[in-house]
Amino acid sequence: MTTIAFDIYDTVIDTAGIANELETMVGGLAPVFSQLWRDKQLEYSFRRGLMHDYVPFPICTAQALEYTDELMNTGLSKQAKQQLLDTYKILPAYEDVAPALEALRDKGIKIYALSNGTSEGVINLLTHAGIEKYFLDIISVDEIQTYKPSPEIYTHFLERTDSTAENSWLVSGNAFDVLGAYKFGFNTGWIKRNSRKIMDPWGCTPDISVTSLIELSEQF
Ligand code: 2OP
Repeated sequence: MTTIAFDIYDTVIDTAGIANELETMVGGLAPVFSQLWRDKQLEYSFRRGLMHDYVPFPICTAQALEYTDELMNTGLSKQAKQQLLDTYKILPAYEDVAPALEALRDKGIKIYALSNGTSEGVINLLTHAGIEKYFLDIISVDEIQTYKPSPEIYTHFLERTDSTAENSWLVSGNAFDVLGAYKFGFNTGWIKRNSRKIMDPWGCTPDISVTSLIELSEQF
């Protein structure tokens, strides 16, 4: 039985979906702001993991927003920042997600979410996007209080889903996640949604490399 662990942010859920709201606040700086915010959020999660100083992902998100606002000198009000964080909880799914998950489910694949987000946060996102029904369960790093790409996360996933690495796939649009799972022995699917996304040159060749989840679903 094949199991797929789907990463959520930037694989299923489009973090650039914050752009419209940001644009009303910071104008043309929105794309750069949004990318810096996302990069800082991930950096904070990596550092928290290394320091064994776990805080839930929404705190990494909020602290990264504070940092980005200060770095870019955008002077967002407390209310504006709260509005952005509220929108972050209901970011949209990419358009190809529902049909791809449906096709994979019809092929008998066991579909799970494996995310840095909290269970509650991920359930809300998936429900809001109308795609929660495709997931058998949500495995959150919060359950063991560290972050991807720690090997502990991939071990935890296998334990929680009663799966083996040989039968499991990690599908992600985040190179660090693909690398972490590859190193651990999972099969890996790299979702390269735009040409600017590059795999780190660490000698990892994902088993499947595609530009959309639809293309991925056709490979199973
Ligand atoms: C996730 O775990 C890494 O943000 C990504 O959903």
